[in-house]
Amino acid sequence: MKRSLSGIKPTGNLTLGNYIGALRNFKNYQDEYENFIFIADLHALTLPIEPSFLRNNTKDIVAFYLAAGLDPEKTTIFLQSDVSAHSELNSILINYLYMGELSRMTQFKDKSQKMNQNAIGLGLFAYPVLMCADILLYNADVVPVGEDQKQHVELCRDLVHRFNNRYNKELFTMPTPVIPKIGARIMSLSDPSKKMSKSDPKGDIFLKDDLNIIRKKIMSAVTDTGSDVYYDPINKPGISNLMMIYAALSDKTIEEVNEQFKDIHQYGTFKKIVADKVIEEIGPFQERYKAIINSDLIDKVLEEGAKKASYVANKTLSKVKKTVGLYVRKK
Ligand code: TYM
Repeated sequence: MKRSLSGIKPTGNLTLGNYIGALRNFKNYQDEYENFIFIADLHALTLPIEPSFLRNNTKDIVAFYLAAGLDPEKTTIFLQSDVSAHSELNSILINYLYMGELSRMTQFKDKSQKMNQNAIGLGLFAYPVLMCADILLYNADVVPVGEDQKQHVELCRDLVHRFNNRYNKELFTMPTPVIPKIGARIMSLSDPSKKMSKSDPKGDIFLKDDLNIIRKKIMSAVTDTGSDVYYDPINKPGISNLMMIYAALSDKTIEEVNEQFKDIHQYGTFKKIVADKVIEEIGPFQERYKAIINSDLIDKVLEEGAKKASYVANKTLSKVKKTVGLYVRKK
């Protein structure tokens, strides 16, 4: 059976962008793939974060995974920090990626640019190395992610070539990033030239927002001049972003959505339809989340997940250790 793996970093409140670009799609893999979905809590330490905030976000993500339809019987749900093989493989792989390629990563450039240049953490720089460890430990065939993570998965592909060639064996499986056709990059509602992100509260829809707030945010989303509703990301980025959201949540193509809205000549009417759609999806999702977040299901799922994930990850780690020449005692 082929394997799928992905994860989310518990650095903030999850947004509708995370939901559409990633979370919502994870369950699609649990019937045909061996599905591994984790919480990238070690990655959350790459920028300063309040400990209690990190802990709460971590629990939230487990509840979100379950609320989004992940079934722990079919999907291994686990914490990155619970499986020590991630950190161990990271210490090995760090020797096989180059500083030049890491410094060219868009995410690193974006984040580090805004920081004091003398206080950029090594973990932020080496972020993609740990991501390679995450993916390669499970020999994932597919990695479902939003557009912004594609470059990291491509770097991982380069590493697989390099590693397999160097040791002249097919040790690691070549992972393929799977980017959704619709909704791979949801933009901010207040500035559609910027990605909707957890660290930018303006213009974000958070999955935990009150439904009335969600409606308000959509009704006051920045739009463009004119009154016709059609998809044109260059000249109508605000309207096009809302159309993307609508299309993704209705499982429709952009052409179908263009057709649906061609007779609407009022942005207000269009926005109301988008708001209804988002609320129709997020309302029941929030109800499921509320039923889970204070139950003991979270720890149970994580405990079981840690066992299953460690079993697979340790097997790979042991193969890697032997391959690079570390001495592994017979058990
Ligand atoms: P993170 O936590 O930043 O984002 C989680 C997922 O959400 C997607 N995403 C979006 N999709 C559409 N529109 C947006 N505005 C938007 N914002 C975020 C991201 O592309 C991502 O798929 N590095 C990863 C976590 C990670 C990982 C991995 C993923 C660690 N190791 C191994 C896959 C495989 C991250 O920070 O995602």
